[in-house]
Amino acid sequence: MPEPYIRISGLRRDYNMGHFYVHALAGVDLTVEKNTFTVIMGPSGSGKSTLLYLLGGLDRPSAGSIQVNGQNIEKLDENELAVYRRRTAGFIFQSFNLIASMTAVQNVAFPLRFARIGHRQRLTRANELMAKVGLADRAHHRPTELSGGQQQRVAIARSLINDPQLILADEPTGNLDTTSGMSIMHLLADLHRSGRTVLVVTHDLRMKHFATHHLYLLDGKIVSEAEYEQASSLAVESASQEAI
Ligand SMILES: Nc1ncnc2c1ncn2[C@@H]1O[C@H](COP(=O)(O)OP(=O)(O)OP(=O)(O)O)[C@@H](O)[C@H]1O
Ligand SMILES: [Mg+2]
Repeated sequence: MPEPYIRISGLRRDYNMGHFYVHALAGVDLTVEKNTFTVIMGPSGSGKSTLLYLLGGLDRPSAGSIQVNGQNIEKLDENELAVYRRRTAGFIFQSFNLIASMTAVQNVAFPLRFARIGHRQRLTRANELMAKVGLADRAHHRPTELSGGQQQRVAIARSLINDPQLILADEPTGNLDTTSGMSIMHLLADLHRSGRTVLVVTHDLRMKHFATHHLYLLDGKIVSEAEYEQASSLAVESASQEAI
């Protein structure tokens, strides 16, 4: 049996708040096969972003291990982790995180600044990606001159500039209207179809349609769909009682 693409064991992330600890992830075990599309769902504060940040090498675990493509990323030093972030994982944030003073195509090319390729080649590649996300005609717009959906497409193009095999998206449609959200979902589905491994945190039930796997988080732990549904219906019940 080949090793799974991602293998997470005993993963914990505790925040020391002085008088108490927040257990953002309270022991997560998970395997993810290559070229799958996993949708991660869970209520606010359940640890979804924490899990994605740890997978993206943007944060470090308190305990446990995260193996991606045979590499234990919790053991990497800062320099090695920077290389991992650049080469392996493409991260898409809810709030786009584009640099306001740069044009769209400059934003897309930005992660290539450490690569040993010339300025012209960087822009050529960035322009190709702008075309791929349907924004060839917006290359020279600054983020404030783009709609929310267009900004997210620029952010997706930027996350692809180093051709990462792992795509991590944290509520990529959270700030978008229904139609723009749909075009982002199709882009993520295309990335999955082209062989990448995609993990998406979302509250948007439409995303389930594109997924090969679903993951439910409650209080920093992975639960079954049935447990998750039960907890959600209890939450709705108590909210409606409060409303009465
Ligand atoms: N830097 C931090 N310091 C202390 N506690 C934190 C920190 N970041 C997150 N937490 C806590 O960890 C828990 C998990 O947070 P996380 O951001 O992963 O939740 P989430 O599932 O992404 O929620 P949401 O749907 O609201 O984005 C929360 O209780 C949060 O308050
Ligand atoms: Mg979050």
